[in-house]
Amino acid sequence: MQEQLLAWYDRQGRVLPWRVRPEDRDAGQVADPYAVWLSEIMLQQTTVAHATPYWQKFLAEFPSVIDLANADRDRILTMWAGLGYYARARNLHKCAGVIRDQYDGNFPKTEAELLKLPGIGPYTAATIAAICFDEATNIVDGNVERVVSRIFKIDAPLPKARPEYRRLAKTLAPKFRPGDYGQAIMDLGATICTPRSPKCQICPWQSYCTALKKGTPTDYPKKLKKAKLPIRYGAAFVLRHGDSILLRRRPDKGLLGGMMGFPGTEWGEKPKDPLKAAPESRNWEKCEGYVKHIFTHFELRLDVYRAEAIDKSVTGVWASLKDIDEFALPTVMKKVMSASSK
Ligand code: ADE
Ligand code: SF4
Repeated sequence: MQEQLLAWYDRQGRVLPWRVRPEDRDAGQVADPYAVWLSEIMLQQTTVAHATPYWQKFLAEFPSVIDLANADRDRILTMWAGLGYYARARNLHKCAGVIRDQYDGNFPKTEAELLKLPGIGPYTAATIAAICFDEATNIVDGNVERVVSRIFKIDAPLPKARPEYRRLAKTLAPKFRPGDYGQAIMDLGATICTPRSPKCQICPWQSYCTALKKGTPTDYPKKLKKAKLPIRYGAAFVLRHGDSILLRRRPDKGLLGGMMGFPGTEWGEKPKDPLKAAPESRNWEKCEGYVKHIFTHFELRLDVYRAEAIDKSVTGVWASLKDIDEFALPTVMKKVMSASSK
């Protein structure tokens, strides 16, 4: 199975800008742990197509992990805007600092050592160690879980049975070419063994696949029905003065930490007197409807209020509307802004 998958990868694996393909390696190229790390952190929350331009921009502006460590954190957050999960961007900077200060600017070379770094979890440590340092780790992401669930027709549902998926994934992983193998099985999941319409006719593992034999690949992986997301409520205040609009940087801790946004209430129970949290008292007008945004653990509903300021004395950053893109608002704040002009 390992050899068949690797042969498929040699022919059909994706060409990705941070990837050293087998033929590139034969030509003497080696994987750059910094470039790989950056790609893996970005890819945890989005597709290759969405992440690629971000990856290119980061590498152009910060060619090495030292450059990233020396960068202004707010600049990193600004460049991250649109990728979501801003804790990852904060950890990215933190991790770069640790590598500069404690590792002389070089990524550690083992899974165990990588795992100690901020923002590097089991998946990322296993992947960097295999791709960059040839350690025979067990790489398991959502793609791998799907492939494995079908090959073995695992009836125990995720996420509870995750250890079982990991154990079975490990039985497939070879001691040789671990980085290529990990990327091959992830590519297989991303391009052939897809969630809704797997292309089993062209799958290199079709003759080993238990779910295919039973004719039921898309029944896998089994998942426990998700509980409905709880709803949190809040209000956001859009204060304008001519062409300017009031932004404030959010506190470091918590969701969207360190990002620019509109002032607002806490998010939680429906606020009884939302205007108490407004940046100044004046005639706030409630905008139509509300802004809805899905975070990992809850749905947020924000009422949006707008007002015109008499001057720019309210503290914060008065951003000019034509330069608003430079402030790299997170998606939910962009929604607030567009709701305020309805
Ligand atoms: N998804 C995330 N990282 C990947 C990689 N290195 N290869 C294929 N798919 C991936
Ligand atoms: Fe997935 Fe089909 Fe291949 Fe089985 S045969 S691993 S279901 S693509």
